[in-house]
Parts: sequence; C-alpha cells; structure tokens
Amino acid sequence: MSAAITLTDVSFIYPGSDFSFSCSHLEFPQNEVTLITGHNGSGKTTLSKLMCGILKSVTGRVDIFNRDTKNLTLGEVGKCVGYLFQEPTQQLFTPTVWKEMTFVDEILGRTSNETERKALDLLEWFGLTGLKERSIYYLSRGEQQRLALCTLLMSGANFFILDEPTTGLDKNNRKRLYTLMDDLVARGKGFAVITHEGELIDKYAYSQVRLEKGKVIA
Ligand SMILES: Nc1ncnc2c1ncn2[C@@H]1O[C@H](COP(=O)(O)OP(=O)(O)OP(=O)(O)O)[C@@H](O)[C@H]1O
Ligand SMILES: [Mg+2]
Repeated sequence: MSAAITLTDVSFIYPGSDFSFSCSHLEFPQNEVTLITGHNGSGKTTLSKLMCGILKSVTGRVDIFNRDTKNLTLGEVGKCVGYLFQEPTQQLFTPTVWKEMTFVDEILGRTSNETERKALDLLEWFGLTGLKERSIYYLSRGEQQRLALCTLLMSGANFFILDEPTTGLDKNNRKRLYTLMDDLVARGKGFAVITHEGELIDKYAYSQVRLEKGKVIA
C-alpha cells in the first residue's frame, strides 16, 4: 500500500519549551485508518501538525504523496490532506451552519447542485439538518464537532487527519463517524486519527502509532 504521508529523520522543538519530538521513519498508508495514541502531552497533536505542514520540522523531511512539504503551501497541502483541529471552533469561521458547509466551494466558484446535495447529505447524516440556519456560536460542543467534521468531508482531500474527533460525540454520533470512515476507506481515502477512544482503539489496534514523551514507542 502506498504511503500518503512519510516522515524521515524528523525532529521538532517548540521555541522556549523543553518538549521535543523526533522520529526516524514513519509512514501513514493511504486507504487505511492509522491511529495515533499516547498520554496527554505525549506529542500527538504536534505530530499531526507536522504531518500536514502546519508545523515545520527543524530537521528531516515530511512528504505528502511523495512531495516534500517544505515546497508546498498550506493551500496546496489542503487540497490533498484535510485536518480536523482538536478544538472545533478553531476551524469554524462563518455566520451560519449552511454558510460553513458551502463557503469554500463558493470562494472557488464551484457551487453546484452536486455540492449542495453533498452538504445536505452530510448534515443529514450527522443530524444537523434542523440547524442549517443556526449561528455557529449557538451550537453545542458536540454539534460544533460534527459540523467541523462535515466541513472537512466537503473537501476533495484524499487523506484526513482527525485530532480527537469523538470528543463531545455521543455513542450514536461516534457510530455514524466510524461508518462514514469505513465508507470513505472503501472508496480509497485514508485517515490518521488521534484518539483515546476504546472502541476505536479496539477496532484498529493493528495499525497504531503510540507516542511517549515525543518519541514513537510502538
Ligand atoms: N505552542 C507550543 N509552545 C510550547 N509548547 C507547546 C506548544 N504546543 C504544545 N506544547 C507542548 O508540547 C507537548 C506536546 O503537546 P501536544 O499538544 O502535541 O500533546 P498531545 O499528545 O496532543 O496532548 P493531549 O492529549 O493533551 O491533546 C506538551 O508538553 C505541550 O505543553
Ligand atoms: Mg492533542
């Protein structure tokens, strides 16, 4: 299976912090779900941001679909990798739920019946149809999380990095997310998922990157 994201001899340090991250070789295959697990503060979010170029490694290189992220703009990365922030409000910008679902396509001038249909289907799947005109400021944490997931899935990305996507989701919505992930993997997409969720860890125990103190331990 070809790699979507590869890290080679990567090291990273936050200026003024004593936390450092390093790994010699790590591959995230396309067309699979790979989990990233570890205790609080072990470096999961740091790794995920290095994987999509939000953070730049100090040494080594990170390749996305065989292209060095040092030569890619965040816009170029965004076309192939979708990133779900740990805090959903970090990626919600527009006045309403519907606007949030459609603004990228609007900016790119590619709104069509098809994109509207896709947006409606995603909102329906995550039980947000009734909140279409709701201000994003008046959503519950779980609703924000589901909307952030929906907007991410609107993009044409081939690989998705989800930082603790089940936070705030009840059992039914977790199940809906897992079903959607299975469906997307069956259609050739790939995922890296940061999680503490037992059910997800049981399901994908065989493909897991385990971190401790900024190092890959398994
Ligand atoms: N911008 C920053 N500047 C300095 N230190 C940071 C910064 N962001 C994170 N850190 C530190 O880096 C370490 C790893 O943080 P990171 O967010 O990657 O952990 P995590 O495994 O995602 O934790 P959690 O499970 O709590 O989300 C922590 O000690 C954190 O305090
Ligand atoms: Mg984190």
